[in-house]
Amino acid sequence: MSAPRPDLTIEGLGKRFGATVALEDVDLRVPGGSLVCFVGPSGCGKTTLLRVIAGLETPSEGRVLLGERDLTHVPVHRRDVGMVFQSYALFPHLSVAENVAYGLRIRGVAKRERLTRAQELLQLVQLPDVDSKRVSQLSGGMRQRVAMARALALDPALFLLDEPLSALDAKLREGMQVELRRLQRRVGITTIIVTHDQEEAMTMADLVVVMGDNRVQQVGPPLDIYRRPVNRFVAGFVGTNNFLPARVVEAGLVEVAGVRSPVAPDATLPSAGSELTVAIRPESLRLRQRAPASAALEGTVVFVRDLGRVVETRVRVREHELIVSGRGGFGEGESVWVELPEAGVMPLAS
Ligand SMILES: Nc1ncnc2c1ncn2[C@@H]1O[C@H](COP(=O)(O)OP(=O)(O)O)[C@@H](O)[C@H]1O
Ligand SMILES: [Mg+2]
Repeated sequence: MSAPRPDLTIEGLGKRFGATVALEDVDLRVPGGSLVCFVGPSGCGKTTLLRVIAGLETPSEGRVLLGERDLTHVPVHRRDVGMVFQSYALFPHLSVAENVAYGLRIRGVAKRERLTRAQELLQLVQLPDVDSKRVSQLSGGMRQRVAMARALALDPALFLLDEPLSALDAKLREGMQVELRRLQRRVGITTIIVTHDQEEAMTMADLVVVMGDNRVQQVGPPLDIYRRPVNRFVAGFVGTNNFLPARVVEAGLVEVAGVRSPVAPDATLPSAGSELTVAIRPESLRLRQRAPASAALEGTVVFVRDLGRVVETRVRVREHELIVSGRGGFGEGESVWVELPEAGVMPLAS
């Protein structure tokens, strides 16, 4: 067994470019050997955070530690990181194997040994039999695998990828998400992947770091983030949600669009009478022809979108429009009852 991989710790990190605040108050722990995704809208600071971890940017304040070792002022070439960018940044005049072995050559590894190692790495990224080809002969997906093999050649302590799949078309991207996840499991290297695509993050990550407004908004396993978003931003960014205004009736109970509904059992509520927003996932709502015994809202179907494996029905309830996903069976203009989730609605802090 190899030695356990150290955790990466970010403490009180901030980064400004002149008057622009790129990152504020970032505290984060990336467990050794895990795959973590930084996700958030454009401009929220994902790339900057990755570059600070890599040593390509110096933070304005705060520290970066790998295990006990303070990396904050260690230059990039001493940090033991392998990086992959959206653009492959391969050497077009070199063969695939020479690209993969490039770092080994710089380290002075003998030719035979580095070509053997390049073959192993190409196997690892599932690209055998292309080692003598030129990079220009490969497709985009293949080039990105070569870039990954090259980044892994020196067995880095950290494997950092910035939007590595965003240049690929949708079908290929989905396949590569699964492959990248499996590759990371095989090599066990602590990996951080930046993406603006929340589904991509949910597919690959052990831990998702949701960023917004140049801060970390929430950190957690994908399902926790999905089920228990800490605020309105996360609830709206990850997956689809319905938002409704509500008022607290008593402990565990709110009134939503004139109807009383329990809140999720582990959720906390402000005092009775407080106004707040609740989030309800489309798949947790049910459409009924008649009023059910449980909490339900009366409305009218305004739009139906049949996606084959699921039907998305939009229902007007008072001045709100709710998305319900499920089996469908209701046509536009029909009156329906939207049954609220038995497990309760999710109150949001802000
Ligand atoms: N080198 C730079 N000089 C000036 N501003 C920058 C620089 N790099 C990033 N920024 C700014 O910092 C913020 C965060 O950018 P970035 O980390 O690239 O976000 P993301 O990767 O999430 O899209 C943005 O407002 C961006 O314009
Ligand atoms: Mg970026």
